[in-house]
Amino acid sequence: MKKLWGGRFTGSAEEWVDEFGASISFDQELAKQDIEGSVAHATMLAACGIITEAEANEIVQGLKKLAYQAEQGELDYSVKLEDIHLNLEHHLTELIGPTGGKLHTARSRNDQVATDMHLYLKEQVSDIIILITDFQQALIQQAEQNIETILPGYTHLQRAQPISFAHHLMAYFWMLDRDKQRFSESLKRINLSPLGAGALAGTTFPIDRHKTASMLGFAGIYENSLDAVSDRDFILEFLSDSSLLMMHLSRLCEEIILWTSQEFQFIELSDAFTTGSSIMPQKKNPDMAELIRGKTGRVYGSLIGLLTILKGLPLAYNKDMQEDKEGMFDTVKTVRGSLKIITGMVGTMKVRKDKMESSVKNDFSNATELADYLASKGLPFRQAHEIVGKLVLTCIEKGCYLGELPLTVYKDMNSLFEEDIYEVLNPYNAIDRRNSAGGTGFSQVRAQLEKAKNLL
Ligand code: ARG
Repeated sequence: MKKLWGGRFTGSAEEWVDEFGASISFDQELAKQDIEGSVAHATMLAACGIITEAEANEIVQGLKKLAYQAEQGELDYSVKLEDIHLNLEHHLTELIGPTGGKLHTARSRNDQVATDMHLYLKEQVSDIIILITDFQQALIQQAEQNIETILPGYTHLQRAQPISFAHHLMAYFWMLDRDKQRFSESLKRINLSPLGAGALAGTTFPIDRHKTASMLGFAGIYENSLDAVSDRDFILEFLSDSSLLMMHLSRLCEEIILWTSQEFQFIELSDAFTTGSSIMPQKKNPDMAELIRGKTGRVYGSLIGLLTILKGLPLAYNKDMQEDKEGMFDTVKTVRGSLKIITGMVGTMKVRKDKMESSVKNDFSNATELADYLASKGLPFRQAHEIVGKLVLTCIEKGCYLGELPLTVYKDMNSLFEEDIYEVLNPYNAIDRRNSAGGTGFSQVRAQLEKAKNLL
């Protein structure tokens, strides 16, 4: 097969060299966007009098056929033709003859590939925003059923203070809300057209970049042709937003993994999202949660990979930039898959309210209540803290919890203690009373849920 740049060459590369340089094995994912871009470009060329209407028609009809064949998986791609752009141009010329060769007038693969990736990410980011919303909905649904489900809250993975399970779940809702904002804001920068920048310097043909931009649904154009073909910020931003999102999913997955353990038993995952062991019959493993946690690593890897690829590149296009695609495709696949899995997993998990409640009733996570109690009676908080610390020590020595110490022990420690401390120590009351804005108090959680629902 003759190369499209055959004119300048006398020798040819061997197959294995071609293979090393080719991107067709992965950039065929961009066939649809490449054709869309070409349709807009050909239409604009005719509108600007650069090719005739008849030629544009022929090209557009040919491209439509190719689009159909690509969708059906009927197009053959060749490594000799390097990438999706040259493969499609070759097919077009096979289909409609030499007029196909006019499509590349006033265009370069450099602005072409950038355009394809902008179109691709625009679609994917919009889809991802919807998938995040689906997950937020699953969180809200679980939270609504668990407003008064109480469990220990942790710091340092040590029991800290009692909280509502809905409050815990909703913490993730707000992280995801920020993720969504980041993705939405990134659309502003993805939504720009590089098409018409040419190889790097623009073109001598009287093209209309705004026309192609608006045909492709872009909000505007890159103002500088060098920037247009060199910029991969929009992909980096996508990888960075995805890294943050995956980090959030990974933290929840880590909690789910802990919660399903024999030690916690706070939740049970549906059989649909777990696996068994080939040797240990009793096992039910949270594989999907572990995988999301693990796949977070590859998304970070793609981000660091592309940052590193770009850091020393002079303007404008360099072949190194072909390395931008696999990480992007892989991240799209990983993020979409992870969001779907976690939505199903959280939506179907069974919350063991009894286990959560019995944990929080058998620990010292109510110790702060006692210190607050003394402080609200006028004792400086530092002294109150010291006194309660001693009471906890007494309990540990006696092998009991704070609620089980007789009032006389309290009174001996400080005369401000009264019978009502037992009410204060009740973890349910401890939560109910935490009504500072954004706190875990049940009424605050209800208000939070209302706000969250209004956002969706
Ligand atoms: N396959 C190439 C890429 O993905 C397309 C652009 C090639 N441009 C060039 N001047 N070799 O980067």
